[in-house]
Amino acid sequence: MSGVVIIGAQWGDEGKGKIVDLYTERADTVVRFAGGPNAGHTLVVGGEKVVVRLTPSGILRPKAECVMAQGMVIDPAVLVGEIDMLEARGIKTTGRLWLSDRAHVILPFHVLVDGLREDRAARGAKIGTTKRGIGPAYEDKAGRRGLRTGDLRDFGRVENLVRGAIAAWEPTIVALGGEPPSVQSVLSHLEPLAARVVPMLADTSIKTDRALREGKNVLFEGAQGTLLDLDHGTYPYVTSSTAVAAGACVGSGIGPTRVGRVLGVTKGYATRVGEGPFPTELHDALGERIRNQGGEFGSVTGRPRRTGWLDIPGLRYASRVNGLDALAVTKLDVLSGLDEIKVCVAYDTPEGRTEELPVDAFANAKPVYEAVPGWPASIRSARTLADLPATTRTYLARIEALTGVPIDLISVGPDRDATIIVREVFG
Ligand code: GDP
Ligand code: IMO
Ligand code: MG
Repeated sequence: MSGVVIIGAQWGDEGKGKIVDLYTERADTVVRFAGGPNAGHTLVVGGEKVVVRLTPSGILRPKAECVMAQGMVIDPAVLVGEIDMLEARGIKTTGRLWLSDRAHVILPFHVLVDGLREDRAARGAKIGTTKRGIGPAYEDKAGRRGLRTGDLRDFGRVENLVRGAIAAWEPTIVALGGEPPSVQSVLSHLEPLAARVVPMLADTSIKTDRALREGKNVLFEGAQGTLLDLDHGTYPYVTSSTAVAAGACVGSGIGPTRVGRVLGVTKGYATRVGEGPFPTELHDALGERIRNQGGEFGSVTGRPRRTGWLDIPGLRYASRVNGLDALAVTKLDVLSGLDEIKVCVAYDTPEGRTEELPVDAFANAKPVYEAVPGWPASIRSARTLADLPATTRTYLARIEALTGVPIDLISVGPDRDATIIVREVFG
């Protein structure tokens, strides 16, 4: 089977973009299946950095077909801006970047409501969203009044759907102290964008299925991460879509028998951006040091990311709900120079010690740590396992032993080349 799913095993920003870009060397098709411009995936090639939010991270490889599938929510303004940015860098997208005609459209009032809700929410009630309209757009999808990308072919239909959606949101916008937009203003906003987006539309389920049937290598690129998944994350501090591996099937319109391998990406430590539980968070100078060394500032919002130690029960949980075959461990270089590194191996709860993630009971659970020795010098130039210090290898072996998941790839810097491939992803 030639379908490989790559997902975030933590709270997002694990380095999925880098790993997908790297593996696209041998992929024919890369499919984004969930989320929208809340994602920010960073690609660094030869020191040059590109951040993509909607476009699959295979876009830098000229031969790869890139698909944005129907599980996504698309802000056409962001998409057009991103395509212009890529084209300006000499990256051709015409004829190789496809958008499902069944993906849902993020409209300006979705972004308005997301922002108003966050700004008006009392302390403790905020989710800390990216304010990109993700939640409200998925609400319209579930409410069966959403506008889909394929509707952009017919502006009579767009007008009816926009009118209905504005009517539905109006009481909420007014209650939040905002001003509902006019139907006309939304149509004027959409018209020029539709002209750019419509030529990219396709039945991407057919395209993806065909590629798999022809034995091509297909990568399914997750967005967000397991603990931000709507069903399996730290609800309600989650995003509004399916971030786990099974979402690759639902979100791209292929069956589970078409996926051969699932790879989870994790940092060598942990980060989270936005509100919600993070039991291994470091509130001290060490947390600050990891934030600065790791450049832990959101690639979409610029917000400082919260930092902490690796959570093994969290990775075991990710292994279970995603069916992980292997892990990719990123940002190991960021831990260089520490005398010791801690890993959370269990939780103490009122009922006793558990090795399960207390996903709904963090308030009463205390992490139990194990310390392992650090390594003093930079490991950024390592390209094989043998190049790594013994203590770095011990740390990796400990992660494998504690999670029961083999490590297929180790990343020691942001650049495509700063990577140790232990096992190839496509057979
Ligand atoms: P994604 O959302 O999972 O694709 O991750 P982001 O791109 O939002 O965040 C990951 C950040 O870490 C980006 O700035 C990457 O360039 C950077 N990065 C990825 N892998 C490594 C690594 O191994 N070491 C270091 N220092 N940075 C990395
Ligand atoms: P990538 O794909 C990290 C977080 C937000 C917030 C919560 C809900 O780059 O890993 P939303 O705007 O989705 O309604 O916000 O989810 N979040 C992410 N955190 N990486 C992401 O994407 C994220 N996408 C959403 O910070 O806590
Ligand atoms: Mg990101």
